[in-house]
Amino acid sequence: MDRKLYHVLGAKQFDRAELERLFAASREMEDVVAAGGDRRLAGRIMTTLFFEASTRTRLSFESAMHRLGGSVIGTENAAQFSSAIKGETLEDTIRIISGYSDVIVMRHTEIGSAKRAAAVTGVPVINAGDGAGEHPTQALLDAYTINKEFGRIDGLKIAMVGDLAYGRTVHSLSYMLANYQDVMIYYIAPENVQIPANVKRYMDGKGIRYQETHDLNAVAGSVDVVYQTRIQKERFPSLEEYEKASGKYIIDGELLSRMRKEAIVLHPLPRAGEIAEEVDADPRAAYFRQAHNGLYIRMALIAKCLGVAD
Ligand code: NCD
Repeated sequence: MDRKLYHVLGAKQFDRAELERLFAASREMEDVVAAGGDRRLAGRIMTTLFFEASTRTRLSFESAMHRLGGSVIGTENAAQFSSAIKGETLEDTIRIISGYSDVIVMRHTEIGSAKRAAAVTGVPVINAGDGAGEHPTQALLDAYTINKEFGRIDGLKIAMVGDLAYGRTVHSLSYMLANYQDVMIYYIAPENVQIPANVKRYMDGKGIRYQETHDLNAVAGSVDVVYQTRIQKERFPSLEEYEKASGKYIIDGELLSRMRKEAIVLHPLPRAGEIAEEVDADPRAAYFRQAHNGLYIRMALIAKCLGVAD
């Protein structure tokens, strides 16, 4: 473990060797959980500071800390129940929390907020979502899931579907996939929420092949992964813009019937109608397995941030 603070701010910070180490550590965490957890983080405290709604991310981080014997403090509604509502700056809030805990997991409404937090603290900061920016720990669990389901990531064809503009998970997952050989990405989105130019520039720089299209049916039969996303209603400038994007791509039995037998459907969840419940019973529906993998990845990450290897 390097002495430098290990923040998790964005997906670009992970190279392939680091991903492989984290995946191996996460794999070990599966055994730790099966054995009832351990106490390696006893006496350590994690703060979860969430300015936006969350179920999986916050609770899996908290569960991860508990599984390793650590303690958790935090606020799940920091916009109202932290001193932010009194006008305290994010920087001041972070300075204060830094005196109370050993690692900070934060979700905030603004792009770049995790970097701002990291700049004023002496404890590791984990970005659990910064507005429409990034969600690196989700991308880690997404990549971990793909690797676990297929035994590799190299050479896979991956369709990312839905809200690619405001959906932070697709930005982070794109950056992460850029570490792999011969991947092909299809960005399938309504016109007003296609993948942003800055993500494309990054992928171009890394020589990653991708194609932007509107036609999910046309690629469904050839891809290994369909990564469906929710249209991020809360981030649209107007209801009219949201309505232009919503309800366009739905994964249902009919779409599934076009997909390869070995393909999988992923979704960061929550879903809001874009995957029909009839899909759940199909073994290719991997999104609940995916969400469970978040626990192992987050255990490995917290242990790494706190410098506690097994
Ligand atoms: C995602 C998020 O918050 O960006 N949820 C999650 O963390 N699994 C996706 C979403 O809200 O649509």
